Amino acid sequence: MPQTSPPTVEIHFGDNLPIIRDFPDESFDLIYIDPPFNTGKTQARTQIRTVRDENGDRVGYKGQRYRTVRVGLKAFADNFDDFLGFLEPRLEEAYRLLKTTGSFFLHLDYREVHYAKVMLDGIFGRDSFMNEIIWAYDYGARSKKKWSAKHDNILWYAKDPTCYTYRYDDIDRIPYMAPGLVTKEKAERGKTPTDTWWHTIVSPNGKEKTGYPTQKPLGIINRLIRVHSNPGDRVLDFFAGSGTIGEAAIRQGRSAVLVDNNEEAVKVMAKRLRFDYPRFVGWTPSPELVAEPTLLDSIGAQ
Ligand SMILES: C[S@@+](CC[C@H](N)C(=O)[O-])C[C@H]1O[C@@H](n2cnc3c(N)ncnc32)[C@H](O)[C@@H]1O
Repeated sequence: MPQTSPPTVEIHFGDNLPIIRDFPDESFDLIYIDPPFNTGKTQARTQIRTVRDENGDRVGYKGQRYRTVRVGLKAFADNFDDFLGFLEPRLEEAYRLLKTTGSFFLHLDYREVHYAKVMLDGIFGRDSFMNEIIWAYDYGARSKKKWSAKHDNILWYAKDPTCYTYRYDDIDRIPYMAPGLVTKEKAERGKTPTDTWWHTIVSPNGKEKTGYPTQKPLGIINRLIRVHSNPGDRVLDFFAGSGTIGEAAIRQGRSAVLVDNNEEAVKVMAKRLRFDYPRFVGWTPSPELVAEPTLLDSIGAQ
């Protein structure tokens, strides 16, 4: 057995409510959740592969023809009769599980965010509301009948609004829109982002893509982890999907606890995070999803 060295990652398979109810009070420094948005649809991503075929419908390098083959479908249902009734006990647990200096992030979209904000004001207190972060992107079809919605909403609540982790110096800098209006030094350094974060979606062809529907970009999640938690802290995501929070946490020296009730998600996480030898609860990975220990692991090097 490889020795798991910090940071650690734990992946739970099952409905999140009974699982998180078993966790002790104030045991996490940062909680981020990205529940299904209640779009009423099944969120699905078909995985395809191209194979050489003289009669194929795609033409590639040097005029070779290729055929598209469907190799899998990753999907989960995004449909609740009572979305807020489903969310409320989970938000109450999130409050209980947060340490006093901890922060909670709820990632939703414009369809539910206002209802959820009222609910969170009731659970955390209105003073605990810190920001509504708008993640703005620019991808996909545009409506001809109204302004196309191209953003998600991330509500930030601090358990204690007078004392919470916020690592200002670790915020990444972005370019000024009008660098000519500031000094050369300032322009070179860049500025801190506001509550509106421009970032592309996970590219369908990029290295980051896991194939899991609704996967969030590491660029957004890395910033949350870096600024709102300290190295060595514990982070929880109980709607973990492809495990973006897990990857961001581990790579930045934080430990992660991840929960999902879709076996497809757990498999994707097992593969994505195997470099850190996850501990599984309620599920056993098949051998090909378990990383071989490296020489350094086997001699117990940190
Ligand atoms: C929007 S996705 C999360 C995507 C994730 N943030 C990422 O970057 O990949 C929501 C996830 O919540 C999971 N889920 C829905 N209801 C759940 C429940 N009751 N318990 C645990 N997980 C649940 C779904 O299986 C899905 O993987």
